[in-house]
Amino acid sequence: MKKIEVGILGATGMVGQHFIKFLNDHPWFEVTWLGASDRSAGKTYGAAAKWHLGGVAPDAIRDRIVEECKPGNAPRLLFSATDASVATEIEQAFAGAGHVVVSNSKNHRMDRDVPLLVPEINPGHLKLIPGQQRQRGWKGQIVTNPNCSTVVLTMGLGPLKQFGIQRVIATTLQAISGAGYPGVPSMDIVANVIPFIGGEEEKMQQETQKILGDLKGDYVEPLAAAVSAHCNRVQVVDGHTVTVSVELSSKPSEADIVQAFNSFRSIPQERDLPSAPKQPVQYMPESDRPQPRKDVERERGMAAFIGRLRPCPVFGYKFVALGHNTVRGAAGAAVLNAELMHSEGMLD
Ligand SMILES: NC(=O)c1ccc[n+]([C@@H]2O[C@H](COP(=O)([O-])OP(=O)(O)OC[C@H]3O[C@@H](n4cnc5c(N)ncnc54)[C@H](OP(=O)(O)O)[C@@H]3O)[C@@H](O)[C@H]2O)c1
Repeated sequence: MKKIEVGILGATGMVGQHFIKFLNDHPWFEVTWLGASDRSAGKTYGAAAKWHLGGVAPDAIRDRIVEECKPGNAPRLLFSATDASVATEIEQAFAGAGHVVVSNSKNHRMDRDVPLLVPEINPGHLKLIPGQQRQRGWKGQIVTNPNCSTVVLTMGLGPLKQFGIQRVIATTLQAISGAGYPGVPSMDIVANVIPFIGGEEEKMQQETQKILGDLKGDYVEPLAAAVSAHCNRVQVVDGHTVTVSVELSSKPSEADIVQAFNSFRSIPQERDLPSAPKQPVQYMPESDRPQPRKDVERERGMAAFIGRLRPCPVFGYKFVALGHNTVRGAAGAAVLNAELMHSEGMLD
């Protein structure tokens, strides 16, 4: 099968590098175009980008010339990891020029006509696309993935939606890689906890309600549950941990809930999409798991790991969830979105 050519907007940044790493040897997609700011355009990728991940950038990528993020000769399918200060304009320009933009940036996530996808949970929200194209007069489209802590929370809550989610309190312990490079100054984070991440709590609350909401024609009606988030930065390199208390209306037993986590499967698994984890939500019965250093790389960083389900005297149940913030919370999430879209015939 001839591979589908893809480009990366913001290819030189932290998330851009994760896209390059994640897409290396992908069975369907091949990176043939790299875009970044005018500071990088015209240089080889090797000269423009300081590689922050383990190993080195693939040879074919290192020698490729970086281009400006302007429509012209880029392939139709683009992954976006551009800085949020410029993502709105850049992504809209490409969608207007007929490109399929699968974005990791926050800018369009909450737009009424833009799918905010977790392919295992709300694949049907892709049905927003025809309305988006009609209203905006675009031949192209924009699809987004959630914030890196939201995806962990929603993968923990998705299997519980059947029990009627009423109220949620979620407290995060977020890795420093979520702040990009150079990220949080070492003097702020070493041997410390920072109880504030700008805009993160609002994103977790609103995005969770949209992802778990129901499609009503050309918009998504948000889940009517109250969601309250506390976000903290801790000195973990990769992996966001989220402790969750949840009130459920149908009062399932603990065994029902564990069964719901472990049996949760959806379209990405049914279609055997290349980046889909075999078991997207995995319950760990050990009393001290999941832990970021020990568990976050399992399933190539694409699954959510849950543990410590127990009664909560206030809300009914509480548990711990863990996910890989730069894989399932960024590049891997967007690639899985594109795989879902391809399996729907949306890239033909
Ligand atoms: N870090 C994470 O874990 C994470 C997780 C989820 C979502 N995100 C989102 O992903 C996006 C990228 O984050 P990041 O951490 O990778 O940031 P980053 O390392 O600062 O990279 C930003 C990228 O945007 C490019 N850029 C900056 N100004 C530009 C302009 N005027 N025109 C075109 N390109 C421009 C940069 O190119 P140059 O190198 O040429 O400056 C670089 O490639 C952000 O929207 C962020 O909110 C990040």
